[in-house]
This record gives sequence, C-alpha cells and structure tokens, in this order.
Amino acid sequence: MSSVPVAREWVWVPKAAAIAREAGARLREFFAQGVETEYKGDVDLVTVADRTSEKLIRERLSEAFPEHGIFGEEGTRERLGAEFRWYVDPLDGTTNFTHGFPQFCVSLGLEQRSAELRPEQDGVLVAAVIYDPLRDELYAAERGRGARLNGKPMHVSRRPELAESLIATGFPSSKRHENPNVHFYQEFTLRSHGVRRAGSAALDLAFVAAGRLEAFWEFNLNPWDTAAGVLLVQEAGGRVTGFSGKPFLLDSREVLASNGLIHGELTALFDDMFAGRNLAPVLTPAEFAARRAARRAKTD
Ligand code: IPD
Ligand code: CA
Ligand code: CA
Repeated sequence: MSSVPVAREWVWVPKAAAIAREAGARLREFFAQGVETEYKGDVDLVTVADRTSEKLIRERLSEAFPEHGIFGEEGTRERLGAEFRWYVDPLDGTTNFTHGFPQFCVSLGLEQRSAELRPEQDGVLVAAVIYDPLRDELYAAERGRGARLNGKPMHVSRRPELAESLIATGFPSSKRHENPNVHFYQEFTLRSHGVRRAGSAALDLAFVAAGRLEAFWEFNLNPWDTAAGVLLVQEAGGRVTGFSGKPFLLDSREVLASNGLIHGELTALFDDMFAGRNLAPVLTPAEFAARRAARRAKTD
C-alpha cells in the first residue's frame, strides 16, 4: 500500500487514511470487473462493492479504534453510545460506479459526541478522510489542524463572485418528483459559469475544499454523505450552512458549502427563490418549439 505523507500531529487521520485506501483498492478491482446492480428503492442502487467495502471498513475501524462507534450507509450500527462515531459511506457514487462512470469515493467522517447530547443533536466533526481511488487522491482533515490533499495543504478557491464561479449539486434518488432542485439548478446555471452534477456528493464537497469548485448544494443528503466533506471544507477555509445560512446539521437534509466569499450571494438567492422572487423566466419546450417553427417558416 502506498503511503501518503500526513501531518505528524494528526490523531485519527493516519489510520483512517490507510483504511480508506484499502477499501478504495477493493472498489477499483470491482469497478474494473463490473458488478450487478440491485435496487434499495426507486433509483437507490447498491452492489456487492458497497457491501464488501463497508464490511472491510467496519472490521478495520473496529481494530484501529475499538472504542469508537460506527454508523454506515449499508447498515452498520455499532457502539452508538460511544464518545466518537464514524460516519461511513463505503462507496459514494454507486450509480456512477454501476455505469462505469469514473466518479466515486470512500468517505469516513468522525464525530465527537459529549455524553449529555440528545440523539438528534450534533456533536463536533473532528476528522475526515475521503479517498478517490481512480485519481489516487486522498483528502484529509482534522478540526483545528487544517486540510490536506495527498499530504499538501489544501485551500478553498478565492473567487469572490458567483458570476465567475463553477458550482455543483446533486439530485435525490428517492421521491424524485417531490424535489424542486431542478429550479435551483436552472437559476444557478444562469448566474454562474455552470453547475456540475457529477454524482458523488462527498467528492463534490472535497472539490469545494480543494478549490476546484466554488460551491455545492444538495437536498436530502445523509450524515454518511456529508460528515467528512463538511469538515474538509471548513478546515480548508470555506463555509458550510443550511440554505438560509443557519448552522449545518448532519440531519438537516440540506447542505450549502462554499469558499465563504460567495456564500452571501448563494443564501440570498435561496431566500429569494423559496419566497418566489427574482426568478429568471425560462422558455417552456412548447414555447421554444413554437419560436423555432416561426423562425423556420420565415426563412422558408
Ligand atoms: C449518492 C451520491 C449522489 C447524491 C445522492 C447520494 P450513494 O450517494 O452522493 O451524488 O446525489 O443523493 O445518495 O448512494 O452513491 O452513496
Ligand atoms: Ca452517498
Ligand atoms: Ca454509498
């Protein structure tokens, strides 16, 4: 296993990084050979790769940190009363993975929870590792100790305006007809350099932390999608909130992450849109077809 230089003072990252790399190597093998798709619901997919990766991560985390709890997407629920809890997404980007689209990762986020917290309250995110096995990129952070990409310090972008920003979003895989995100996609597309929808929320957050994107938002994500990426963005100098600018919560079902500089523009647009204000008119397909037909009739 190749090793990535890590900050010497890091407490949890070195072991977590080795585990994420091992799981990522397994994912790379499955990706090369191809896997069958199973459905958890609607278009929520799962494969043998997701389950194998989670099993490996569960075993390795339990060896490395026997006192820590684990909360994994594919069902792991261990020691949830513990002070520390790992949120594990063993394969973020399963839909991409099953189609051979090369954008997915392993995501491990560590939360510290004081004894008096109620179950629905957030503790403090203290460590994060996201590993992209196809690019061999390892993103890591610990609270107060900065963020790194393959061992080098990582910082969010310094672009100051939404109009010159490249941003990203994702769309939920269940209850798709109940989600308004396509309207936000449209509006942000008109006001920026573009909106990417690459299919791995954890990597989207890691890209904001690395300065490759100015911002990312998504509805209905789960703690295993966001825990690691949120800390990466914060430690890389960015900002993470809900859509209105309120503090981000692991269970809040909305995440807005940015380089900080364009955050005010983003929350203002969310406020306007939720209030039905300030929307650019968009041609309907029927209006577009009628205009095109009229243009053609003129030139015939
Ligand atoms: C999904 C990805 C995707 C996001 C979905 C998530 P999964 O995670 O992060 O980008 O749009 O909402 O569920 O299912 O591939 O781990
Ligand atoms: Ca996920
Ligand atoms: Ca997953």
